[in-house]
Amino acid sequence: MVKVTVLGASGGIGQPLSLLLKLNTTVTNLALYDLVNTPGVAADLDHINTPAKVKGYLQKDNNGLEHAVTGSHLIVIPAGIPRKPGMTRDDLFKINAGIVRSLATAIAQFAPQAFILVISNPVNSTVPIVAEVLKRHGVFDPRRLFGVTTLDVVRASTFTAEISGAVSKDVTVPVVGGHSGVTIIPLLSKITPKHEFTHEQVAALTKRIQFGGDEVVKAKDGAGSATLSMAHAGARFAKAVLDATVNGVAGIVEPAYVYLGAVDSGNQLKATVDGLDYFSSNIELGFYGVRNIQPLEDLSTYEQDLLRAAIPELKKSIDKGVAFVEEAS
Ligand code: NAI
Repeated sequence: MVKVTVLGASGGIGQPLSLLLKLNTTVTNLALYDLVNTPGVAADLDHINTPAKVKGYLQKDNNGLEHAVTGSHLIVIPAGIPRKPGMTRDDLFKINAGIVRSLATAIAQFAPQAFILVISNPVNSTVPIVAEVLKRHGVFDPRRLFGVTTLDVVRASTFTAEISGAVSKDVTVPVVGGHSGVTIIPLLSKITPKHEFTHEQVAALTKRIQFGGDEVVKAKDGAGSATLSMAHAGARFAKAVLDATVNGVAGIVEPAYVYLGAVDSGNQLKATVDGLDYFSSNIELGFYGVRNIQPLEDLSTYEQDLLRAAIPELKKSIDKGVAFVEEAS
């Protein structure tokens, strides 16, 4: 049995993400949890002729959350409010921090072995919140906790290919740091296939990748942020984790925002990012989750400047998440 749970499954991301997970044939059971509408979403998806049995759970059900997460191999969290024009991801903290903390508490109690994929923003703070909750329950295995930053690399491929003329699906741009504004650091010097950009192109592309989410927020004009591209990105990352941890596929590398103490190689990276506890980098996935965290090497001068600007922002967001859980306990 390979049970996957989506917490926030009726939302803008939750519904298309649940659809894509239903199409993933590794999944045998798909549990959909939300405050509203999950029975309908589950009934609808359950008619698709792929293996996963789909079941909806509501907050108002007796122990709905407990039943949704119990026995889950992988839990994805897109629950919480999205941005409106003019908002930063940090503006979401007030509401989403509490939502994520309560969901993490249930995971710690009823699914302590699950791989956890956090989509809810601000990811730079919500991942430390989950970690702190798990620590307090004595069940924190940092190899199993991921902040989903896949959308940043998906956008980076698309935007970069528009300039370089390559086929976007073949373009890989490492994106490191965090998941908001200046903490998003595209490493355009390391793009494959190789391409030489002018300095102006690098500056413009970097800005577009950092603030790509704003284009969607503006275009949706108050109706939310990226949902469909995010569902694609979330399903891609969930598939990578399932392939590594269920199907035994070796050598899968995907970016994610993780706890750097998870493995020895993370401690090497930690030393180059002023001791930050969390950072996103390319992660090699293995049977237990995080297997290897790639170091930052040979950054261009421009990328070093981006890193310098990102570190204090990341530190603030991480401290804010940690303090939020400390204050409550
Ligand atoms: P949405 O408002 O459409 O959906 C959120 C869903 O969460 C709703 O169905 C709501 O009922 C549910 N929810 C709220 N509180 C809950 C709780 N306590 N338990 C279970 N479900 C609960 O929002 P959308 O567009 O789906 O975005 C969700 C989150 O994802 C936002 O925080 C957004 O900022 C973030 N996001 C993250 C991205 C990333 O790259 N990591 C990209 C885009 C969005």
